[in-house]
Amino acid sequence: MKEWDAFNEIVKAKGMWLTDSNGNNLLDGVASMWCNVWGHSKPELINAITKQSKKLQHSSMFNLTNEPAEKLAENLVKMSPGMHKVFYSDNGSSAMEIAIKIALQYWNNIGEMKKTKIATLENGYHGDTFGAMSVGYVPEFFSKFKKQLFPTIQIPVPNKYRIPKEYSYFDYQNFCLDKIENQFSKDDKIAAFVMESGAQVAGGVIIFPKGFQRKISKICKKYNVLLVLDEIATGFGRLGSMIQYTEQKSIPDIVAYGKMLTGGYLTMAATLTSKKIYDSFLGEFYDWKHLFHGHTFTGNPLSSAVANENLRLYQKNNLIKKIQKTSKVFEEYYEEIAEIETVGDIRHKGMLMGIEIVKDKKNKIPIRPKKSINKIFFEEGKKHGIYLRTLGNIVMLVPPLAISEEELGLLLNRTINTIKSAQNQIL
Ligand SMILES: Cc1ncc(COP(=O)(O)O)c(C=O)c1O
Repeated sequence: MKEWDAFNEIVKAKGMWLTDSNGNNLLDGVASMWCNVWGHSKPELINAITKQSKKLQHSSMFNLTNEPAEKLAENLVKMSPGMHKVFYSDNGSSAMEIAIKIALQYWNNIGEMKKTKIATLENGYHGDTFGAMSVGYVPEFFSKFKKQLFPTIQIPVPNKYRIPKEYSYFDYQNFCLDKIENQFSKDDKIAAFVMESGAQVAGGVIIFPKGFQRKISKICKKYNVLLVLDEIATGFGRLGSMIQYTEQKSIPDIVAYGKMLTGGYLTMAATLTSKKIYDSFLGEFYDWKHLFHGHTFTGNPLSSAVANENLRLYQKNNLIKKIQKTSKVFEEYYEEIAEIETVGDIRHKGMLMGIEIVKDKKNKIPIRPKKSINKIFFEEGKKHGIYLRTLGNIVMLVPPLAISEEELGLLLNRTINTIKSAQNQIL
């Protein structure tokens, strides 16, 4: 906070552009925290909210239900192969807490009391609450709470740019998969394996190699371990597919959605489970098999209504096809970005790009400037008319999904100029 004496106050936004109180326009390279789909002030989404707000703003999903939430659950189940029921929450971290609780309680419900451990991929990120921090341990973020987090079994992840010298990329993938198989084969107390689907985003845009996630799902099945996938940042088209786990051929037992679910307009997340998991929660009241979990705004009608409209627009506008075409614009800039003195690596899939900034390209030495890298790039980006955020030494490009080819080109051009002009402050 000490670095930030003043924040830019955003007063309005339209399309891909944010406007601050000084009248500056910034191209939204962050999709307003990775959730914006259509750009800002989309009339159809605004109408969905206002229309619903005249009927029912909020009731409760304790003993009750509401029409938009029911319809949304139907929509979500229909588009999610293998999933059967939906549990709503209002942010991604909560959706992951719920996923963890469901996974652990499932084994308890079916009488397998010893299955209580959770395995995860190193470097994952699943939110900032305690359960989510435990399964997504990022040392820089969470080390202050390490003692309070529950223990997990951590499996290394193949980061192509930084694999140990003695391995080829392919061999290291097998090394990680073997580690999972070894763990699972010698420990029958593992309840679930929790991972992001398709890529680790906050952990530095680590895109999983083809087949990696599918093989993990097979190992999970073989050893009777539940697969919990987090599609909060990677589903809904961010990586170029509506449902990332179908592209990865890895049907989970539990999956979490968030961020883009409402087009980025209202707060909502969802945890979906298979029928096998859901059925284990059915029983006589005093069997205590039900899930003791609920939030005030669970299944909020306004959020549900805008999510339904958002999903309708995905279909109407064939958004996934559009993303697949628009995202090719990223490729046109690979060479120009790679030539920059401080760029060590470029990682890209769909509407997500991570540019790793290094001090020494040859030896891949990370930069460590006095000020935070995020602050430096944010300020430089502002001078170039873009809203940029870095995570560690990775410049993240996460634009609204429906960005046009022209605006994406502009974002990339301005990012290149920003990196070049920020260089003297970071070397
Ligand atoms: C993969 C993943 N899971 C969970 C979360 C947490 O979501 P929220 O910020 O809505 O709590 C995030 C947020 O960035 C995320 O990237």
